[in-house]
Amino acid sequence: MRVIETGSLTLEPQTAAHAEEMFAVLGDPAIYEYENEPPPSPDWLRARFTKLESRRSPSGREQWLNWVIRLPSSELIGYVQATVHPDGRAAIAYEMSSAYWGRGLARKAVQVIISELVGRYRVRSLPSVLKRENLRSMRLLERLGFSLASPEQHAKHRVEPGELLMLREIERA
Ligand SMILES: CC(C)(COP(=O)(O)OP(=O)(O)OC[C@H]1O[C@@H](n2cnc3c(N)ncnc32)[C@H](O)[C@@H]1OP(=O)(O)O)[C@@H](O)C(=O)NCCC(=O)NCCS
Repeated sequence: MRVIETGSLTLEPQTAAHAEEMFAVLGDPAIYEYENEPPPSPDWLRARFTKLESRRSPSGREQWLNWVIRLPSSELIGYVQATVHPDGRAAIAYEMSSAYWGRGLARKAVQVIISELVGRYRVRSLPSVLKRENLRSMRLLERLGFSLASPEQHAKHRVEPGELLMLREIERA
């Protein structure tokens, strides 16, 4: 993994050293309106980030890639992550402090990571499952070229009721 500079954002490979500052970022209750919950303690988050530094699933089959998002002011504001499967699929996830929503920063960060996944990790298919009510996330994905998957694709991915599958397929050059 490498550090990615965009001008307006820096994406840094996440390490245990980010845990303390990310604990404050991820304590924002607005992030969890639709799913998940904040980390219980800085120690818990440090242990999790330490484990994720292996960048691999326990079986070694999946690459687990996590980047934290940093502003030029040096503040951390969120993360983007990807689970890359050997067949060229990658599931992405992202969370950002609500103080920075509505500025196009999440879109920029996710766009840059998609380019990285396609260019350096041979990713060709990006399935993304989200809660139906999560319109912000849906809009973000639509702007990045994702579209709603067919009922057959929903069934194949075993999408739960209350969730939606959005997909972006990358054409081979
Ligand atoms: C999902 C999430 C990252 C989206 O954040 P966001 O700030 O709404 O997304 P963006 O950064 O793309 O901002 C887009 C908005 O900024 C506006 N914007 C302002 N300047 C912009 C610019 N230069 N470029 C793009 N958008 C811009 C857009 O108009 C857009 O508003 P709209 O959607 O109301 O039209 C955020 O809501 C979040 O962290 N949610 C909690 C975690 C979560 O749900 N994760 C996803 C689970 S599937």
